[in-house]
Amino acid sequence: MNLKGRDYLTLADFKREEIWYLLELARDLKKKQKAGIPHQVLKGKTLAMIFQKASTRTRVSFETGMFHLGGLAMFLSGNDLQIGRGEPIEDTARVLSRYVDSILIRTFSHQEVLDLAKYADVPVINGLTDDFHPTQALADLLTVWEHLGTLEGIKLAYIGDGNNMVHSLMLAGAIMGMEVISACPEGYEPNPEVVAKARSLAGQPEKIKIVREPQEAVQGAQVLYTDVWASMGQEKEAAERRQAFAHYQINAELLKQAEKEAIVLHCLPAHRGEEITAEVLEGTQSVVFDEAENRLHAHKAILAALLA
Ligand code: CP
Ligand code: NVA
Repeated sequence: MNLKGRDYLTLADFKREEIWYLLELARDLKKKQKAGIPHQVLKGKTLAMIFQKASTRTRVSFETGMFHLGGLAMFLSGNDLQIGRGEPIEDTARVLSRYVDSILIRTFSHQEVLDLAKYADVPVINGLTDDFHPTQALADLLTVWEHLGTLEGIKLAYIGDGNNMVHSLMLAGAIMGMEVISACPEGYEPNPEVVAKARSLAGQPEKIKIVREPQEAVQGAQVLYTDVWASMGQEKEAAERRQAFAHYQINAELLKQAEKEAIVLHCLPAHRGEEITAEVLEGTQSVVFDEAENRLHAHKAILAALLA
């Protein structure tokens, strides 16, 4: 499998066998790291990381991952770059391409990432936009695979906002042969274009479903997933969203209605008492910290595949 030179913008750009290749590479790199076996396949390579939004996991895992692989990562806050003073993204893309081997960007508009990728000569990695979070989704697939032993046929129920996270989960699930059911309040459903894309990727449109009631979504689900009610950039809507999403919480009662051994995922950061209770987040079925750890291994696989 050769993914060298490719961008990582949304999972829809990848075939099932390419995603399996990344997952197997992540598992292999994870084993090597745990066993203390060196895996410096990116010696001399550099990664510029542009962050227009806050981050704990994405930033630290990519930076650490690049170090493990023998390369160098540079954290660049949007405010400190000339982008913050109006330099066009197409100029930034062309200039950075003369210095570094890859560019990661976390920003608001997905179009900005597409523009960056269009003008950059090096692989561009989407570290989250308002519409997609594909590096998280790869770590989520890795986590489900590790805990449940398979992806095909797995039913994932997503409870909450029709946001970047559920968009990437629908695409990931569709490609990997999973069933993805989202329960969202009226007015907060996923983007219909993304739903249509996921349905076409799935081949069987009934595998990607949007329902109203969380109780309906979790029936028979082996994976429960949720995310914050107000994403980065929606801070002003927080109060209004707290009302709209009041019943969209993963709590012990909802968890009981899923499959007996269902696992609970959350991309984090979590708001205990809002989209998930502390009891479930800290409970025995929660794998959120394994999931957070897997960001590191999944990101190393992306970097190694695109750059080595
Ligand atoms: N899940 C996730 O992307 O976390 P950060 O915002 O901390 O990077
Ligand atoms: N939907 C959240 C995910 C954070 C990792 C956000 O965009 O803020």
